[in-house]
Amino acid sequence: MDGRPIGVFDSGLGGLTAVHALWRILPEEDLIYFGDTARVPYGGRSRETLLQYARQDVRFLRTFDLKAILIACGTVTTTSLPVLQAENDLPMVGVVEPACRRALSVTRKKRIGMIATQASVRSGAYEAALRRLDPEVEVICEPCPLFVPLVEAGRIRRGDVVIETVAREYLEPLRATGIDTLILGCTHYPLLTDIIGDIMGPEVTLVSAGEESAFELKRMLTAGDMRASGERQGTTAFYVSDRTEDFERIASTFLQEDLRCMARRIDIEQY
Ligand code: DGL
Repeated sequence: MDGRPIGVFDSGLGGLTAVHALWRILPEEDLIYFGDTARVPYGGRSRETLLQYARQDVRFLRTFDLKAILIACGTVTTTSLPVLQAENDLPMVGVVEPACRRALSVTRKKRIGMIATQASVRSGAYEAALRRLDPEVEVICEPCPLFVPLVEAGRIRRGDVVIETVAREYLEPLRATGIDTLILGCTHYPLLTDIIGDIMGPEVTLVSAGEESAFELKRMLTAGDMRASGERQGTTAFYVSDRTEDFERIASTFLQEDLRCMARRIDIEQY
C-alpha cells in the first residue's frame, strides 16, 4: 500500500481526460495535476524544446513526494518518455503503448487510424508501437494541429461551426480510408469525442489515449502493491502556469465538477 499522490501532467487541459478516468477507476488516489497553460500548445515544437518543457514539468511535480507520474500528454510521451524514465527513479506511465494495445484489441480489419499533434506524428512512435505489437497492422497517421488551440479556447461543443468545420476537413479523408478504429493520440482530442464520433460514424471505434493510460497506471499500481487504501476518498490539486480562470471554466465543464478557485498558478520557468 502506498498513500502518496500521483503526479499527472499535460500542456494544458488534455490530461484531464486521464484525470476523468482516474476519478472513476481509482477514486481513492490523491492526484497532483499540472497543466502547462503558459506554453500550450506543445504539438508544433521541436524535440529539444519539448524535452526541456517536460523536464521542467517533472521537476515541478517532483517537489511533491509522489509514488508515480502519469505523462498524460501524447506529445511528451512520443518525444521524451525514455529520457524522462532514465532520468527519474520513480515509475512513469505514458499514453502510447496503452492506446495501441487497446486499438489492436478492438480492430477487426487491422486498419487503424491515429490522429495526434505534429510532433507526435513526426516521431513515428504510435506507428512503431502498433507494428511492434502486430506487424500486420495497417496504420494511417494524420496530424490535427488546430484541435489543441480550439480545445483550449473552449470550442468543444456540437454545433460550434468553427470546430465542426476544422474537424470535417481533417477527418473526412481519414474516414474514406476505411479504418475501423481511430486512436485519439493527443489527450486533448477526447474532449471532442462527440464531434469526432459524428464525423467518423458508428462503425469506427474511438480509442482515448488519456483514458487508456489511466487503465495502465491502475494495472501498474496494482501489480506493484502501490494502491492507496480503498477506504478513503482521494483529492485532486490543480496547478497551471498561466491564468487559472479559463482552465477552471473549461475543466469544470469537462469534468462536470465546479472547479472555480481550485487551480493554483505557478511559475514553471523556476523549475
Ligand atoms: N495534449 C497533448 C498531447 O497529448 C499536447 C497537445 C499540445 O499541447 O499541442 O499531445
